[in-house]
Amino acid sequence: MSHSDAKKLLLVVACALVDADGRVLLAQRPEGKALAGLWEFPGGKVEPGETPEAALIRELREELGIETQVACLAPLTFASHAYDDFHLLMPLYVCRRYSGIPQPRDAQALKWVRPAKLRDYPMPPADEPLIAHLLDLL
Ligand code: C5P
Repeated sequence: MSHSDAKKLLLVVACALVDADGRVLLAQRPEGKALAGLWEFPGGKVEPGETPEAALIRELREELGIETQVACLAPLTFASHAYDDFHLLMPLYVCRRYSGIPQPRDAQALKWVRPAKLRDYPMPPADEPLIAHLLDLL
């Protein structure tokens, strides 16, 4: 790879939030954002100086209004995807223990989805390969 092919690496962290019925929460990316309308695992960018777990706890609080802890986050797999303008590295955690009821804080639609139905929701290309890992687990 030549130097000019190098892409900025973006670290995003995502969560498969699982409810008592074994359903998984998807969030729809709002209008005006990149990939608007696609359904994703909630999460967001890791800020400088932050651990991935701390970033995920913060994002779940900011986006959904729920609280969880590092001990409740189980790393499952990660996405590594080359977008046109950056390379995304995105660990996926599974979280079954949290407090509060997820509510959209950011105008995004939310949907609890049975694992077998996850493929019915169009996702960003980075998120899609994560489904197979979740289906193995759930
Ligand atoms: O959510 P945010 O826009 O901050 O994420 C930055 C970028 O990471 C998005 O534009 C998208 O390309 C990618 N992303 C993704 N899947 C996610 C979250 C973000 O592909 N679940």
